[in-house]
Amino acid sequence: MTQHITTLRQLRDALPLPGARSRPLSLVPTMGALHEGHRSLVRKAREDGAQVLATVFVNPLQFGPGEDFDRYPRTLGSDLAALEEEGVEWAFFPEASEIVPKNPRIRITHPVAELYCGASRPGHFEGVLSIVSTFFHLVGPDRAYFGKKDRQQLFLIEQMVRELLFPLEIRPVETFREPDGLAMSSRNRYLTKEERRIAPELVRLMTEARDIYAPESQLDRLGWMNQLKYRLKERGFRPDYVALVEPRTFLPLDSEDPPESPAILLAAAWLGTTRLIDNIDIPARHV
Ligand code: PAF
Repeated sequence: MTQHITTLRQLRDALPLPGARSRPLSLVPTMGALHEGHRSLVRKAREDGAQVLATVFVNPLQFGPGEDFDRYPRTLGSDLAALEEEGVEWAFFPEASEIVPKNPRIRITHPVAELYCGASRPGHFEGVLSIVSTFFHLVGPDRAYFGKKDRQQLFLIEQMVRELLFPLEIRPVETFREPDGLAMSSRNRYLTKEERRIAPELVRLMTEARDIYAPESQLDRLGWMNQLKYRLKERGFRPDYVALVEPRTFLPLDSEDPPESPAILLAAAWLGTTRLIDNIDIPARHV
C-alpha cells in the first residue's frame, strides 16, 4: 500500500532515517499528470532495489506570468492509483502553503539557467532548483531520478548537487517515447488531434538533421541549425530555439570546438498553444 503524505510532520514520521534504512531511499519528483515516462522513473528506481517516495506537486515557482500554471493538468486520483500500481512506498502531495513560502527570496541559480529554455522562461530553472532542493533536504533520499527529456533541468540539478554537496546520487533515465517517437510529456494532452499528428515530426527532423551533421566550420553549424528551424516551420511548428550544446558545460558549441566533438541537440518549438521540447545526442564523429 502506498502511504499518502501531505504534511511535513507526516513526512518526518513516515520516513526511515539514513542510518536505519534497510534499502536505499529513492526520490521521484513529479508534477503529477503521470504517464509512462514517470512510471519508467519509478520502475527504474525499484529495479535498482530502492524504496520509493514520489512527489506530486505542481510547483508554482517554476511557472512564469502568463504560463500554463492554471491549466496544467491536475489528476491526483489517477496519479495515486498509478503510484500504487507501481508499488511506490510513499506519495507526498503537499499543499503549496505547506512547502512554498509566500514571498520566497532565496534563489539558486547558474549561468546555464539563463540559456535555451531559461531564455524563453525567465526564472523557470530557479523555481525548479528551489523546489528540488527543498525536496532533497525534506526527504533526504539516497538517490533521485530525473528524465533526460528535460536535459537542461537534469544538467542544472546535477550541478547543484555537485556544488552544494547534496549527499545523494542523481540517476538519469532515458526519454520515454510514444511508438511514433513523440517524447512523453504531461503537456502532450494540450495538443489537438491535428497537432498530435504533427508533433512527432520534432524528433524526426532533429534525428534527420543529426544524420547529416558534418560541419567544417562554425558557419556550417549555424547554417545547419537554420536549416532545421526552416524544416520545423515548414511542418507547422514555431521554433523557439535550436541549440548545439557541449555536453560537459552545457554551453553552446563554438568555433573553438572541433567539428567532430560530441554534442547535444536541443530544440523547443510551439505547436498551437503547446510548447514542445526534445533533445538527442550527437555522438563524436570518428573521421
Ligand atoms: O520535471 C518536472 O516534472 C519538474 O520540473 C520537477 C522536477 C518535478 C520539479 O517540479
